[in-house]
Amino acid sequence: MLSVQNLYTEYPNDKGETVKAAQDICFEVPEGKLFTLLGPSGCGKTTTLRSIAGLERPKSGVISVNGTTVYSSANNVFVAPNRRNFGMVFQSYAIWPHMNVFQNAAFPLEVGTKRFSKKEIHDKVMRVLTAVGLDQFADREATKMSGGQQQRLALARALVMEPKLLLLDEPLSNLDAKLRERMRFELKRMQRELGLTTIYVTHDQSEALALSHEIAVMSTGRIAQIGTPRDIYERPRNKFVADFVGLTNFIEATVEGPDEGENSYRVSTGIGQLKTTAYDSFSKGDAAVISVRPEDIRVHEHQRPEGVNVFEGTVAFKVFLGEYLDLQIKVGNREVLARAHPSIKAPVGDKVYLSLDPAKCICIVDDPKLKKAA
Ligand SMILES: Nc1ncnc2c1ncn2[C@@H]1O[C@H](COP(=O)(O)OP(=O)(O)OP(=O)(O)O)[C@@H](O)[C@H]1O
Ligand SMILES: [Mg+2]
Repeated sequence: MLSVQNLYTEYPNDKGETVKAAQDICFEVPEGKLFTLLGPSGCGKTTTLRSIAGLERPKSGVISVNGTTVYSSANNVFVAPNRRNFGMVFQSYAIWPHMNVFQNAAFPLEVGTKRFSKKEIHDKVMRVLTAVGLDQFADREATKMSGGQQQRLALARALVMEPKLLLLDEPLSNLDAKLRERMRFELKRMQRELGLTTIYVTHDQSEALALSHEIAVMSTGRIAQIGTPRDIYERPRNKFVADFVGLTNFIEATVEGPDEGENSYRVSTGIGQLKTTAYDSFSKGDAAVISVRPEDIRVHEHQRPEGVNVFEGTVAFKVFLGEYLDLQIKVGNREVLARAHPSIKAPVGDKVYLSLDPAKCICIVDDPKLKKAA
């Protein structure tokens, strides 16, 4: 298990100021799980990963793996990166130019403390090369490969040792969309099969949702929320997370008070009164934001449906996307985006009814500390 407690890492910038690149980072990754650091460019993902690897010296905190402390500011412990025995793929991956593909992938096995027979090395290397789709290139000089192929080779080299901790920094960023999806699938299969404890860094939310057991969403050096992919998507804790992961509508609101049912709150908004769900506690008069995803807004063409959270609106704009229909709908003096079944025929200008499931109208706070980095 990996444990990161109260990690702070900072850099001096050109002007002599300090950049607080990672602040108060705390998380734990159980053995065999894949944990993702997700966030926009500059939010501190690479800094956190490099601190775990020992390539940056944090200012304070504690990092331990399977009970062994590899960094502790209080006890003055700093284990050198090469003694941590982690497998790594960097954002700017490096392959060894004077070796062919096979030799590159076999290198960690050749120089490691554990001895392997020629046959063992061959089998292990060919297994990882096959997994990343490079088995037919085993004899090719590594430099005579495309960027995406080199990236896959870097991944194979990190996997071949079956390390106790695998650190991957945007390992699929140089692949085209099709290949990225195939590799995502392969990576997930291998990670699960071999039970490799993995920290995965990405700014791609669908990659994070598809691969992870748990995700930490980061903003400006801090963790904005940790949770399972479903938690992060369905129960965002703040506006930053709701906005960064997936598409959503925000409706400014004032809390009126608790409503019938668990975690239920009544709020007033510019489009009217709403029944919502909150996972934090709110008091009457609190300013809040309601996040409701386009797919959680039902569109009804002819009849006003029964129930709560029903509003009348006008179709302002529509986009047909094959498997679904995106409708911009004017309600009062604002617009909301609804993702509807393509069978909805209402043309622009027509009256429709919207119903918003109270369980999917999430009442959250707008934390000013969590803003998108430049
Ligand atoms: N060596 C360095 N010296 C000074 N500042 C740095 C250094 N490395 C990173 N930073 C700064 O620290 C902050 C976090 O950078 P980091 O590389 O961790 O971001 P990231 O989340 O990995 O972004 P990206 O998605 O663009 O790779 C940024 O403001 C960055 O400019
Ligand atoms: Mg980075």
